Amino acid sequence: PVITVLLCALAYLAGSVLFALPVCRLWKLPDPRALGSGNPGATNVYRTGGWPPAVVTLVLDAAKGWLPVWLANSAGLSVMVQAIVALFAVTGHMIPVFYRFKGGKGVATALGAGLALAPVTTLIMAAIWLVIMWRWRISAVASLSAIICGPIISAFIEPDTLPLFGLLALLIVVRHRNNLIRLAQGREAGL
Ligand code: G3P
Repeated sequence: PVITVLLCALAYLAGSVLFALPVCRLWKLPDPRALGSGNPGATNVYRTGGWPPAVVTLVLDAAKGWLPVWLANSAGLSVMVQAIVALFAVTGHMIPVFYRFKGGKGVATALGAGLALAPVTTLIMAAIWLVIMWRWRISAVASLSAIICGPIISAFIEPDTLPLFGLLALLIVVRHRNNLIRLAQGREAGL
């Protein structure tokens, strides 16, 4: 129906706003795409600007995933439709229409969308991220560990969202291919 199409479009457009860029401009920091990993995400904002702009980036990138899924839920749409809306938001962040389709890795946006649709699974994944980050201090390792656990956790706790977490894991692992190459070569930067 029309509402589904509208929410998918809204999710893609919201996802396409890479909040790292306006946040860095606000903090008078260099463009994150030109520094560190070159990724327009909270981790790379942290490398140049520290915690405050990184946390703001994380929250806003998560919010753009959360909001359209919440709207879909409030409109009474099925879990499958909500999952599709979530994928549009994450895809917007990865291939944004506003930035010549060169985006980020989708972790924060998936976090927000996941919190709206499968909060228990997502909170466990966030806990995994924190533990791995605390232990190894490499954001990509924490993100990859959490996202790979997603389908397994959701299968037990929120099984109707398993297809979503499976697809998110696939998309996010692929987007980390350069991190994976660097990890294999032992030259992935810590935080
Ligand atoms: O969430 C992105 C993170 O997993 C990796 O970011 O900047 O280290 O490539 P980065």
